[in-house]
Amino acid sequence: METNYFSEETLNQAVELLQKGELVAFPTETVYGLGADATNAEAVQKVYQAKGRPSDNPLIVHVTGQEDLTHYVESIPVEAKKLMDSFWPGPLTLIFKIIPGSLPSVVTGGLETAAFRMPANDLTLALIEQVGAPLVGPSANTSGKPSPTTAKHVMHDLAGKIAGILEGGATSVGLESTVLDMSGDVPMILRPGQLTEVDLEQVIGEVTIDRHLMTETEAPKSPGMKYKHYSPNVEVWMIDYLKADFKEAVSLAKKDHLNVGVLASEKIVSDLGSEITASYILTSNGTVSEAAKHLFAGLRALDEWEEPLDLVLVETFPEIGVGAAYMNRLKKASGGKIFKC
Ligand code: TXA
Ligand code: MG
Repeated sequence: METNYFSEETLNQAVELLQKGELVAFPTETVYGLGADATNAEAVQKVYQAKGRPSDNPLIVHVTGQEDLTHYVESIPVEAKKLMDSFWPGPLTLIFKIIPGSLPSVVTGGLETAAFRMPANDLTLALIEQVGAPLVGPSANTSGKPSPTTAKHVMHDLAGKIAGILEGGATSVGLESTVLDMSGDVPMILRPGQLTEVDLEQVIGEVTIDRHLMTETEAPKSPGMKYKHYSPNVEVWMIDYLKADFKEAVSLAKKDHLNVGVLASEKIVSDLGSEITASYILTSNGTVSEAAKHLFAGLRALDEWEEPLDLVLVETFPEIGVGAAYMNRLKKASGGKIFKC
């Protein structure tokens, strides 16, 4: 299958393909999603094949607004309404109990709930609107690899497996949406993202966090969080920001004649100078939001460096605010390996 790029001018072609049950990736503010008509079970099935995704991992249904939910959700809790008024369109996915049979079970993984999100991207909202049905949209990467933040990343992973990619430039957030389960007594964060616990609590009061996200010993509530994720082929180590410095780690690796790549703030990279084989700057202003935006692109760039690397060392940040989401992804990418001294 030939995989074509589409743009605003050729949006109608992307619309037709999706209506025919083909797959077209689309840009959002977080990462690129792999689109299929959420009401077409056969089309959704193809998403799992193209990604190599385990079939018990449910998908997010991308909608154009709160009105779309009425077809699938019996009653919207008042807190959820407040959150949607505040944060949609935006990087917040909400999980609701759905009207039985209102979505194919291949979308929900057979659960009684489904996840919904209105992405903040006008081209993609026009796409959903014109298709006339919501679109499922898992991150448009091969399962297990870092999520795609450019159309090129999608092409790299899925060329020949999907019909097209809607071009929308680099994404602005860089990490997937915050997933909040609204189906229980107290809203629970199942996946941290740019919108933090504090952001949500300012609007609706108490929010809890799935404790399995923290302990890492038990299976988390969100099916997707238990799989190996975000992993490049090259070995990734985190550098403990309190206990270690990059210089020590690099000199130890060099004793073993290893080719080292560094993914860190501009200051750290420039201090290391010619000691390292490769580098990718996470942030020039030192903020974790900026680092989060470039984490996946950096992991991909270093994984494909022309001179193959033995090791990639990555900067860590305190696990507060967006730092919690950044560290959640980095811990998975590194398999938890951390250099302390
Ligand atoms: O930012 C995003 O959310 C991106 C863009 C493309 O919108 N999409 C995305 O989708 O990250 P995906 O499929 O890679 O992640 C969806 C997450 C998974 O961890 C999945 O297990 C969880 O949401 N999920 C979906 N439906 C669920 C449900 N009913 N109950 C619990 N978790 C659910
Ligand atoms: Mg994903």
